[in-house]
Amino acid sequence: MTTEIRVLDNEDDLIAAVNVFRAAMVGFPPLSNLPPGHIAKLLEPGRTIGAFVGGQLVGTADAATSRLTLPGGATVGHAAVTHIGVLPSFTRKGIATALIRHQVRDIAARGEVMATLRATEATIYERYGYGVASLSQSVEVHTARAALRPDVGAGGPVRLLDSAEAWDVLPRIYAGNRPTRPGTIDRPEVWWQGLRLRNESSSGPSYVVVHGDQGSETGFARYRPVDTEAWFVSKQRTIVVEDFFAPTADAYLGLVRYLLGLDLVDRVVFWMLPVDDPLPWLLVDRRAVRVTAVHDETWLRVVDAQKALAARRYEGDGAVTVAVHDPLLRNNSAAFVIAGDGAEPTDRNPQLHVGIEGLAAVLLGGTAWRGLAVAGLARAEDPAAVVVADQLFAVHDAPHAGFFF
Ligand SMILES: CC(C)(COP(=O)(O)OP(=O)(O)OC[C@H]1O[C@@H](n2cnc3c(N)ncnc32)[C@H](O)[C@@H]1OP(=O)(O)O)[C@@H](O)C(=O)NCCC(=O)NCCS
Repeated sequence: MTTEIRVLDNEDDLIAAVNVFRAAMVGFPPLSNLPPGHIAKLLEPGRTIGAFVGGQLVGTADAATSRLTLPGGATVGHAAVTHIGVLPSFTRKGIATALIRHQVRDIAARGEVMATLRATEATIYERYGYGVASLSQSVEVHTARAALRPDVGAGGPVRLLDSAEAWDVLPRIYAGNRPTRPGTIDRPEVWWQGLRLRNESSSGPSYVVVHGDQGSETGFARYRPVDTEAWFVSKQRTIVVEDFFAPTADAYLGLVRYLLGLDLVDRVVFWMLPVDDPLPWLLVDRRAVRVTAVHDETWLRVVDAQKALAARRYEGDGAVTVAVHDPLLRNNSAAFVIAGDGAEPTDRNPQLHVGIEGLAAVLLGGTAWRGLAVAGLARAEDPAAVVVADQLFAVHDAPHAGFFF
């Protein structure tokens, strides 16, 4: 079986690719009623690839151009990879492998430093050099028990936004208040357009609130009620906060106060919070907050190890020599000396050995070298090197991106 991979550039192929992905996902209906030309708003030109077998499109993958924040605040070029799917009748024939390898090489050729994705399953992407670089937690808050401590600040003003306005205002708020938290990524225009399409074609209620004075807002939340069939008499009225963007303390407090103070609502579910989120500390009864899940969030692929290591900041004054192994992008297979003042290639003997997927896991500071070493994903010539590496790679904020794409 010969698989041909090529970039998809006409409207019919792009719509077919979206529907291949949706068929692969099983639970997603096919695209319908897309206005002519609209597909170009949902997929970045030149970044959707298709796999053809005997002329039939059977698999696809795409990406959006974005930037990712590293520890210390530097941002690097990054591909937000998504929509990887193979028709169920063509799986386990190496088609995803061909697509993903092609895509990783293309990302390298574009000069982007890394790629990230969200994985439907945890057993697929490590073989291509992706590792889990950030976690996300879902929490639920029982509002009746959620009194705030007396010294918790007021936050700023919060107002409901008309949903038609949201798609202009939210991208502006996000871009204008981009946090320095490692793992933060740009939300590409195609992502906003996809979200808009999903929202406008969904019949249920959903709401957007923004924090801050009009024109200089600093945060937002998107939420919707769930299980609304018996809403009028329900004893468990629940809202799900699908998107919580509160990069400043003021925005955080204003939005949390608003959401926990909503009349009628018994339970507020936050879908995606960073694992160091302070919510329990705000409450008199911290058990009003329950962590319901902790998920792997960012799957990261280091595409240019030298640039990635040089761009992030390190803590303390130790130094360690690390050999990286990357079977797919051979340029990454090299040794680096990493110290408080930076990282660069070296000829010195390595103290630590790690695969490119292990480097991805530690790069943003969300995973400890000692964990990798215990799991056999990093090998130390001297156990003391693991301690030094953990000091160097420590971060102030847990890495987090805060949204699905
Ligand atoms: C995941 C998916 C893209 C894999 O496509 P595929 O063409 O079958 O993958 P390949 O044949 O190239 O297999 C690659 C390897 O991954 C393994 N693999 C693939 N899918 C897997 C899965 N769902 N679970 C575990 N292992 C998987 C294969 O066994 C194979 O292993 P090997 O390298 O040891 O031989 C395909 O199953 C699919 O479309 N699934 C539904 C959509 C989806 O989950 N997309 C991911 C969105 S993030």
